[in-house]
Amino acid sequence: MRLEFSTKISAADREKAACIAVAVFEANRLSPAAAALDRASGGQIRTLLHSGDLDGKPGTTRLLYRVPGIAAERVLLVGMGKEKEIRAKEYRDGVRAAISAARETGAAQACLYLTQVAVAGHDAAWKARQLAVVAGETLYRFDQMKSGKAEARPLQEIVLGVASRRELRPVGLGLAAGRAIASGLALARDLGNLPGNVCTPSFLAERATQLAKEFKLAVEVLGRDDMKRLGMGSLLSVANGSREPPKFIVLRYRGAGKQDRPVVLVGKGITFDSGGISLKPGADMDEMKFDMCGAASVLGTFRAVAEMKLKLNLVGLIPATENMPGGAASKPGDIVKSMSGQTIEILNTDAEGRLILCDALTYAERFNPQLVIDIATLTGACVIALGHVCSGLFANKDALAREILAAGEDAWDRAWQLPLWDDYREQLKSNFADLANIGGRPAGSVTAACFLSSFAGKYPWAHLDIAGTAWKSGKEKGATGRPVPLLTSFLMRRAKR
Ligand code: BES
Ligand code: MN
Ligand code: ZN
Repeated sequence: MRLEFSTKISAADREKAACIAVAVFEANRLSPAAAALDRASGGQIRTLLHSGDLDGKPGTTRLLYRVPGIAAERVLLVGMGKEKEIRAKEYRDGVRAAISAARETGAAQACLYLTQVAVAGHDAAWKARQLAVVAGETLYRFDQMKSGKAEARPLQEIVLGVASRRELRPVGLGLAAGRAIASGLALARDLGNLPGNVCTPSFLAERATQLAKEFKLAVEVLGRDDMKRLGMGSLLSVANGSREPPKFIVLRYRGAGKQDRPVVLVGKGITFDSGGISLKPGADMDEMKFDMCGAASVLGTFRAVAEMKLKLNLVGLIPATENMPGGAASKPGDIVKSMSGQTIEILNTDAEGRLILCDALTYAERFNPQLVIDIATLTGACVIALGHVCSGLFANKDALAREILAAGEDAWDRAWQLPLWDDYREQLKSNFADLANIGGRPAGSVTAACFLSSFAGKYPWAHLDIAGTAWKSGKEKGATGRPVPLLTSFLMRRAKR
């Protein structure tokens, strides 16, 4: 059941919706919509604020029923922080709190007056887009593997109340983009959350094929024989330890003329990472089903881009395989030959992400790309460096790095740049092959990126290490869908140029 969104010109005090939500600020300040309710109710809203029951901090809410003088059945007051200091974070926290509070009521429809709040540096379209994304994120549930029937949710429709005609168009456009991003996010989260015995390389290929049918994309799925023919010895070496056949998925979206060089997105698709012969320890190994979240983010981004009909050409490459310790698995010390011709000494079979990505990066050359971005849950070291707040970013062109950082800020799905200096390359030297697949403990994320850069010399390239951002552990364990918002924001801005 998909959430419906719409926009209308509406005065909060006269709106007949089952639930309306208006912003209040710290120091007992009211948004214009809250002030209108206050006037119509003879001062009820101010009385509540002065009682000290709501302090206006971002993320706090109070629900009122049948307020005299107000047409709506429920009034939800939403704290947004200090009126003059509302930035992306405060706005998103307020929206998230409003949506979860509205979800707890029996209201089927909620009319929100939150896009009227001033957010520093952002316009109405941005506010509407973020609202749709945050609403989708907040209402998302993954219960397709549970046998009980899905929890019923009354909330089905969200209306954005705007003050004037002038706002209808930007808010409507922002909503449309936000809806597309939310559906891409949900797809990425679903694929990430599915267990390894369901979400196999073949399953990913099937879902990519479905997506292609639905949105008229071109899709091609290469099998083991194709990979052999192409000389993808590095990717194949990872697949050798598994009974699941590997797949190399190629998706193409055409939103611009033939002569327009495509952006290529490459997603790591390890559907389960046991570590291989360099077996991982048992604790939390289940979370290695999330090792295909890079691939999922590529599919999610395709969905969002196709729904938005962005005017650019996009290619998606997904090398998909399990990393398992079978009898034919790679052993530490094995040397394989990549599609690029470079030989690799596999010193640790758990550094498999780079082994499948390197062949995909070489394959990307045939599309004559304007740029390539790979997305991968690549290193535990990235989680140590940056935690779960931002993704690690590396690029062989600074202008591209800056563009991606800005897109991440805009989407509030942030990244932080780490160095890709040649000094670190020392660590990847092998006595027996062109490259070793590990560079020791120091700067593990950097040496992993350096490894990849040896295969991405022919085009502007960036690498996003999403090991810390693609999923959450603990009580809220589950895929986040990141960095679908960052990638779609990047592509929206590219398409506009
Ligand atoms: N998929 C893992 C990275 C990972 C680990 C992401 C934990 C999130 C949480 C990757 O394939 C891996 O195992 N990397 C190794 C590399 C090492 C052997 C050089 C790692 O990070 O330990
Ligand atoms: Mn691994
Ligand atoms: Zn991995």
